[in-house]
Amino acid sequence: MVSKAVRPRVPAAQVPEPRSESDRSQTPVVSLRRASARVGGRTLWSDVDLDLGAGEFVAVLGPNGVGKSTLVKMLLGTVAPASGEVRVLGEQPGRAGDRVGYLPQRRSFDTSLRIRGIDVVRLGLDGDRWGVPLPWPARLSARRRQQRDRLTDVIELVDASGYAHRPIGACSGGEQQRLLIAQALVRQPQLLLLDEPLDSLDLSHQGAVAALVGRICRERRMSVVMVAHDVNPILPWLDRVVYIAEGGVAAGRPEEVITTQTLTRLYGVPVEVLRAGDGRLVVVGAPEPPARHSDRHAS
Ligand SMILES: Nc1ncnc2c1ncn2[C@@H]1O[C@H](COP(=O)(O)OP(=O)(O)O)[C@@H](O)[C@H]1O
Ligand SMILES: [Mg+2]
Repeated sequence: MVSKAVRPRVPAAQVPEPRSESDRSQTPVVSLRRASARVGGRTLWSDVDLDLGAGEFVAVLGPNGVGKSTLVKMLLGTVAPASGEVRVLGEQPGRAGDRVGYLPQRRSFDTSLRIRGIDVVRLGLDGDRWGVPLPWPARLSARRRQQRDRLTDVIELVDASGYAHRPIGACSGGEQQRLLIAQALVRQPQLLLLDEPLDSLDLSHQGAVAALVGRICRERRMSVVMVAHDVNPILPWLDRVVYIAEGGVAAGRPEEVITTQTLTRLYGVPVEVLRAGDGRLVVVGAPEPPARHSDRHAS
């Protein structure tokens, strides 16, 4: 059973710095107040409250079809809340422009696709939005230089320099995902929305991509909203969890949300959160195949 106070059990070098209280006392990067989602005449979820501070990482978890992507789209401003209030970087969703980066739910690249990784990253740039005020033609060359520097920086940031000039179709799933994350990062957003970026990666790549995003989140004080099926690879980095299920939504700290009591209430049937021999958490009795969660927060 999971009810103990929890602390990340990860290698010391990976343990994130504790947050300062000032991170949470400033205007939240994302704020939901009694927000509800309704699509096609059906209420997906309701009464969700959430505050996400600068440099914080939240996971949106739950089975297929419960409205995880809809929550991300609400933060983007493409789906309006049915009720309640949603603010992103202090504004109505959709108004924060470049300050929000977005990686949609995964689509795969054809292995024969010849476009290079670096060109995929470049698609994330929109020169018109951040040109420096210099006279023409100095402005053009300065802008090109700035674009080139940003591309180089972001490709280094995601450790993709070794394969960024290869055709994206020839890159592995993990490499493609790093390049796509670079595309979402290239305009240096304050908020990064990632919809199932770990989907279709094997476990070791899931851990590596999660660590990459967690590290950038901490180092650059960028806030992250990540939709995931399995909280296991991201648990060491999480500050908040939003768990959506048929029976409702629970939002809070991971150790408050992923418990027998909370998940039983959410699913509406008896669900147990057990600790496996390897220290991971296993959710048993959920209507879908059991979700597995890490216990790296447990002490
Ligand atoms: N624009 C829409 N109109 C009608 N139904 C929708 C629309 N968008 C999503 N849905 C439905 O809402 C439910 C939740 O979708 P989604 O947010 O994509 O779920 P998840 O990401 O959790 O799998 C699904 O049943 C989906 O078919
Ligand atoms: Mg989805």
